[in-house]
This record gives sequence, C-alpha cells and structure tokens, in this order.
Amino acid sequence: MSARDILTCPVCGRPLAENENKFICKKGHSFDKARQGYLNLLLVQDKHSISPGDAKEMLISRRAFLDRGFYRPVCDDIAGLLKENCRSEHPVLIDIGSGEGYYTSILKKELNAQCIGVDISKEGAKMSCSRDRDITWIVATASHIPVASGSADAATAVFSLFVNDEYERILKKGGILIEVTAGSRHLIELKRMIYDQVFDQNKKPAPHGDGFETLCEYDRSFGISLDEKALRELLEMTPHFHRIKYGKEKELEGRNKTDLTVNYIIRVLRKR
Ligand SMILES: C[S@@+](CC[C@H](N)C(=O)[O-])C[C@H]1O[C@@H](n2cnc3c(N)ncnc32)[C@H](O)[C@@H]1O
Repeated sequence: MSARDILTCPVCGRPLAENENKFICKKGHSFDKARQGYLNLLLVQDKHSISPGDAKEMLISRRAFLDRGFYRPVCDDIAGLLKENCRSEHPVLIDIGSGEGYYTSILKKELNAQCIGVDISKEGAKMSCSRDRDITWIVATASHIPVASGSADAATAVFSLFVNDEYERILKKGGILIEVTAGSRHLIELKRMIYDQVFDQNKKPAPHGDGFETLCEYDRSFGISLDEKALRELLEMTPHFHRIKYGKEKELEGRNKTDLTVNYIIRVLRKR
C-alpha cells in the first residue's frame, strides 16, 4: 500500500483512486493533479481567504534559510524520536503544515517513510514538488485532512498547528504524533532588536485530549550565527517581517554576524 492509497475525497469521504492525472472517488468527485504534481483537495468552504496559508515570498525566504541547515538539528531531533518510537519499518508519515517541504523530504529519507505533506498554502504545495516528486503533496486544511481514519503510522506538526481530534482520527492505534512549537526564548535576540518591549512568554504546547498519551516532552535550545543575508531570510520567513518598523528594519541591515537562540518544545504523543 502506498501513501496515495489512503487519500479520501474531501467532499464525501470515500477513497480516492488515481486515474492518469486525476483522483476520482466512487461518487464521481474528481480532482486534477497539478502540472507540478501536487493535488488540491481544499474545499472552498475550508479556504477562509483567497490564498490561505503562507505566501510565496515568505516560502521562498524560508527555503533559502532552511537550506543553509540552520534548523537541521530540529529535523534530526524529530527523525531520532520517530525512529525511537514509531513501530513501523516503512511508516506512512503525514507532515501537517509542511510549508515548502524541508522537514517532510528529509524525514522521508531518514525513516524510509511513505510521506504525505499537507499544507493549506497552494504555493507551499507547488514549491514542495521540486523537493521530492515521490512525496504526495496536498493542499488541505489541518482540520480536515483528506485521508482515511486510522491510516497513518506517524504525523508531524512542525511550527504549525495542533488539531487534537483530527490528528487523533488519522493516526493508527499506537501511532506517533510529533509536535514542535516555538519555546519562550525562541529568537529572543531578534525580537529584542525588533520590538521596544518583549514580554516574557511562558509558552506551552496546547493540552491534548484523552486519546493521546505523552511519551516525552523536551525544551531544547541551540545557537545559530547568521550573516546579513541569512538574517534577512529569517526575518522574511516569520510574521515579524510584517510588524517590524522601517527604522528597526534599517538597523538590521549591514550586520555581519548576529547570534540567535533557537528554542523549541518537542513533544511525542502516542495514540491510545
Ligand atoms: C510556520 S510554517 C511551518 C512550515 C514548516 N513546517 C516548516 O517548519 O518549515 C506554518 C505552515 O502552516 C501552514 N498552515 C497554516 N494554517 C494551516 C491550516 N489550517 N492547515 C494546514 N496548514 C496550515 C502555513 O501555510 C505554513 O506553511
């Protein structure tokens, strides 16, 4: 069975079958595969805006930044915890909020996994195809993931969102969910450069329901040192870019070296 076999019709929930460049369900709902290879399964009523999710410019900056390897330790951490906790040799892994595909494509190789990358951003899915065409990239919302119930061995949500009931639904019994969220000290130095006041936030992942048990949770940190270009890319891939005042943005220009803290909370949950 391949990852594609677990796709379901977003309209009626029946299985989708691949037929040349289309995916069709028994009721005749049909979805064309885009030229780049992704599949748009996002229904209009789940869109909530014309172009939901991260915009192209943000995704281009994120790709440039991530490809320099600054967040590779986060990815290695996820891969290590999946290897430790996931019971399947060749797992079906769903990366939710997959962005431009950085984590999904590395995790696929590291775990010999069959992957589905899910993002509400069409641009994200489009860009992801150039990372790995063997991954099934779909445009869909995290609150309505068009895959069969109990079909995934593992799911990841990396700096994205946590939708308890839907993530529980898609996982097999005993399936693993890895969630990564920003910690209280994440990029704290950058925030201090941008904002006049930075409040101490005691960030905690959202509580999970009884359907999951927490296997472990770690608060991890490491340092990164950025040149001017990387600092600009990092700024552009975050929501801070839309909030920064012109004067502060100017101050960030011409900095040869900026030392920043990457701080994240990684939580491993098992479906009961
Ligand atoms: C901060 S980015 C993280 C992307 C990727 N995991 C990474 O770390 O590079 C959050 C991603 O979640 C996506 N997103 C936002 N709301 C979503 C939703 N309701 N369903 C699915 N994806 C969503 C955005 O388009 C964006 O790509």
